[in-house]
Amino acid sequence: MTLFHENPVRRVLCLAGSLRRDSYNRRLLRAAAAQAPASLRLDVHDGLSAVPLFNEDLESSAPTGVLALREAIVAADGLIIATPEYNQAIPGVLKNALDWLSRESLVGEVLSGKPVAVLGISSGPWGTRLAQASLRQVLHTCGALVMPAPGLFVANAAMRFDDDGTLVDPAVIRSLQNFMLAFEQWLQRMAPPIVDLESTLRAPA
Ligand SMILES: Cc1cc2nc3c(=O)[nH]c(=O)nc-3n(C[C@H](O)[C@H](O)[C@H](O)COP(=O)(O)O)c2cc1C
Repeated sequence: MTLFHENPVRRVLCLAGSLRRDSYNRRLLRAAAAQAPASLRLDVHDGLSAVPLFNEDLESSAPTGVLALREAIVAADGLIIATPEYNQAIPGVLKNALDWLSRESLVGEVLSGKPVAVLGISSGPWGTRLAQASLRQVLHTCGALVMPAPGLFVANAAMRFDDDGTLVDPAVIRSLQNFMLAFEQWLQRMAPPIVDLESTLRAPA
């Protein structure tokens, strides 16, 4: 009996740390979905605006936006977070969501043990280096399994997309493809598919 297909399609939830309609970080995630290998299915979660400001008094009432986000993360094999940089750190909207997600809930601490990849794009010349460093620190504190490399820091955002918001910069597209292949391998290493070894060993050569 095979418990799982050896090469299952893995579900990856994508979060952009921006509420902006034309967010470059959300565009980058859409491009990542387009460049991902066939073994990964990426879904961009658009619900951060439904996550209220964290308040311990609200925890027992479990706000709907928080529940939806937690459930989406539990259902995913991995998580990709694209962060803008605000004042050399992660935006409050993203930190707020992570604070909610760091807490014990009916579905557990949803970031603990979850494979996560981090990337980001900003309009300035440094490409979210400091924001990503602070995001990694928060994720480590939450027990997430953060992919160590490669980094993807995209600077000068306005030059990278066409008028429709499609990523058109060939160098960034190549980096994104490498990044997605690395995340595919990271998911394999952190959560290898379960194979029924007994049946595999008994199968004729
Ligand atoms: C409050 C604020 C602070 C910012 N601080 C930085 C910064 O420290 N470093 C940087 O590279 N860009 C900074 N920016 C520019 C953002 O990187 C840029 O607005 C980016 O496009 C936001 O991401 P988004 O397009 O996904 O919304 C800042 C923008 C705002 C609104």
